[in-house]
Amino acid sequence: MSQHPEQGNADSTVFSDRKVTTNLLTQMKEAGTPIAALTAYDYTMAQLLDQAGVDLILVGDSVSTVMQGLETTVTVTMEHMVYHASLVRRGVERALVVADLPFMSYQVNSDEALRNAGRMVKEAGAEAVKLGGGRVVAETVGRIVDVGIPVMGHLGLTPQSIHKFGTYQVRATDEKEADELRRDAKLLEQAGVFSIVLEKVPAALAREVTESVSVPVIGIGAGGGCDGQILVSHDMLGICTRFNPRFVRKYGNFADEMRGAFERFTEDVRGRDFPSEDESY
Ligand code: KIV
Repeated sequence: MSQHPEQGNADSTVFSDRKVTTNLLTQMKEAGTPIAALTAYDYTMAQLLDQAGVDLILVGDSVSTVMQGLETTVTVTMEHMVYHASLVRRGVERALVVADLPFMSYQVNSDEALRNAGRMVKEAGAEAVKLGGGRVVAETVGRIVDVGIPVMGHLGLTPQSIHKFGTYQVRATDEKEADELRRDAKLLEQAGVFSIVLEKVPAALAREVTESVSVPVIGIGAGGGCDGQILVSHDMLGICTRFNPRFVRKYGNFADEMRGAFERFTEDVRGRDFPSEDESY
């Protein structure tokens, strides 16, 4: 029986010096040590997250909204994801690097899914892939895991299904959808995922699902009962300000700080205050 994360592990440092693997994440769940995960899309940000001790770095298809200025994730391609994952991989030594498989790169058939998961590992250097869905992708997940590529599942509000949902509201608030989610989590566990992301579902349901599976459940907008938490880095830093759901805790207001720095630079250039003699050759 695994200890619940909220009970905590007094000595969480036992994990902090070790390279994060999927096995280590399982050990963290069993020890009740919460898992910290954030997103990155480039080398510099990935290096900072890794130096800060973040356990899992997700190259999310949120690259679409954060870096590409788009409304949804559905147009992201394999080329985009392989490119961004390869940048992130170069900046990371300790964290586990997981890359999203983009919409329609794994749904057509499991051969195509296998090929694309393989590209993410061979071309980008990702250590695992993430894909959305439960029953519909369970067989595909099994095939990818069988060839040696760890898979992370994603349930609840899966942004790749936004046109089906029609809204970014909290999911699984009715018993039918909650039951499907419980079933999907077990199916993913049986198919061999090493972890599951649970996005924007009621906290009580997320806690129940977390306790019902042996693999670590990483929550986003899913309350404090999960084995770990993930946020989009640009949201928690306050760089991206157009997306403000209540589950995002802001750890900075870097949009204002950055804009202020850009304004001061512009003023300095216009006032011929930059560069100074010390900054010249
Ligand atoms: O794409 C992403 O950033 C994600 C996280 C929000 C979990 O899937």
